[in-house]
Amino acid sequence: MQPSDVFANTTNEITYRLITAEDIDTVMDIERKAHSHPWRRSSFEDCLQGRQKCWLAIVNNEIRGYIVVAHGGGDAELLNVVVAPTWQRKGLGRQMLEHAVKAVETHADMLFLEVRVSNHRAIELYSAEGFFEVGHRKNYYPTVNGHEDALLMARQL
Ligand SMILES: CC(C)(COP(=O)(O)OP(=O)(O)OC[C@H]1O[C@@H](n2cnc3c(N)ncnc32)[C@H](O)[C@@H]1OP(=O)(O)O)[C@@H](O)C(=O)NCCC(=O)NCCS
Repeated sequence: MQPSDVFANTTNEITYRLITAEDIDTVMDIERKAHSHPWRRSSFEDCLQGRQKCWLAIVNNEIRGYIVVAHGGGDAELLNVVVAPTWQRKGLGRQMLEHAVKAVETHADMLFLEVRVSNHRAIELYSAEGFFEVGHRKNYYPTVNGHEDALLMARQL
């Protein structure tokens, strides 16, 4: 872990810190409530090894959201972003995205992501924050009764 990884940045009342093993139960609870196809626990455990970084957004000692990013070879990837359902549409998603951009912009020139084509609110957020469409992956995500495409988006850092 680099010194910058333990730096806790406070913007208004939001404090950011990296996930620890003790946070995973809470994060999994939010993940299951927020996503139709939640990540497995092992994906968050991978974040403890440092291959990808899961930043928690804490308000009043409560985990209200998290954002997972990885970087390497001059590019960065946004792997997951979730705001706990009761705290959505209050600006936290946008602020977490800004935090993640700051965390990777000295390591990468471009930030990429994949999103379900049906996830209009996430696509709205990404478009408003400077991401543009760079492609599609056909039948990339499972749905309850089949598959749906992924939209690939990117933002210059
Ligand atoms: C996508 C998500 C992270 C957005 O977080 P949020 O805190 O609710 O978003 P914000 O309040 O910061 O909204 C920022 C912008 O996103 C867009 N947006 C967010 N929610 C929206 C909604 N329900 N409908 C339309 N646009 C929406 C808007 O452009 C909004 O800006 P505005 O409020 O000025 O109109 C949140 O909805 C979420 O956790 N969803 C479930 C998990 C998920 O789908 N993650 C993305 C995986 S790729």
